Amino acid sequence: MNNAGLPKKTAKLSAPPGDDIPEAMRDTPDVKRRRLSPVLLIIGLVGGGAISLLLSLSLANSPKPKPIAQSSPQPTSTDTSVSPSPQDTEEDTILGHFAYEEAPASELRPILPGSQIKLRAAAAQQFQAMVAAAQASGVVLVPISGFRSASEQQHLFFDVKKQRGQVATKRAEVSAPPGYSEHHTGYAVDIGDAQTPATNLNPNFENTAAFKWLEQNAAYYSFELSFPRNNPQGVSYEPWHWRFVGDRNSLETFYKAKNLTSPAPTPTTDASPNP
Ligand code: DAL
Ligand code: ZN
Repeated sequence: MNNAGLPKKTAKLSAPPGDDIPEAMRDTPDVKRRRLSPVLLIIGLVGGGAISLLLSLSLANSPKPKPIAQSSPQPTSTDTSVSPSPQDTEEDTILGHFAYEEAPASELRPILPGSQIKLRAAAAQQFQAMVAAAQASGVVLVPISGFRSASEQQHLFFDVKKQRGQVATKRAEVSAPPGYSEHHTGYAVDIGDAQTPATNLNPNFENTAAFKWLEQNAAYYSFELSFPRNNPQGVSYEPWHWRFVGDRNSLETFYKAKNLTSPAPTPTTDASPNP
């Protein structure tokens, strides 16, 4: 067997993939069929030698082609466009939550006309279209929470944890630490059902008409469930928490360089109400 995993006999007949043209396919003239005259043979030999000499001289003087880079470019101190490697990103997680930048205030818009809750412009526009479509089917989607700053998340994580006497690992099953919430991005929204407010931020939300409608239709508006059951991050099941992945920035925010291929740890319990 050779490096390409082929039996030796086959390897001799064909060049390795990506290498030279396989011997059987080379476009060589069939010299056996023609007899060259001695004069032509001499002219050919002399001329061929001169051409070979000229070619080798010109090749020796020509600049060598640069090798194709095999690894990713190294970021410079001012280059912020290069993404971290998966290893870097793994380090940039805490208790299963990824680090997220706060959306710039200039990019936030009311999620519905007159609402205090905000999302990034593209997400707000699609959320409004989604609410209208749901309404046409008799389902009333209610936004509960959209963009949250790191200081708001500070309260939700640490103050509530203290009030409930929770350890950090337990709190993190249902709430991201400040700096690590999808809500910072301006793309995530918690959704309730106007018919059943008792299910707000509760796993029972999955039994509502709103959730069933979202399951069938949210993708048409570029929203997806962030924390399904047994998600790879090990965050509790949150049927109410949806994120917008409908443009390049949102896609990169949630997927670029994130190593989400490892098996999901199963959460010990479902989310407690009002996370
Ligand atoms: N409840 C989700 C995990 C958050 O706090 O962002
Ligand atoms: Zn949420």
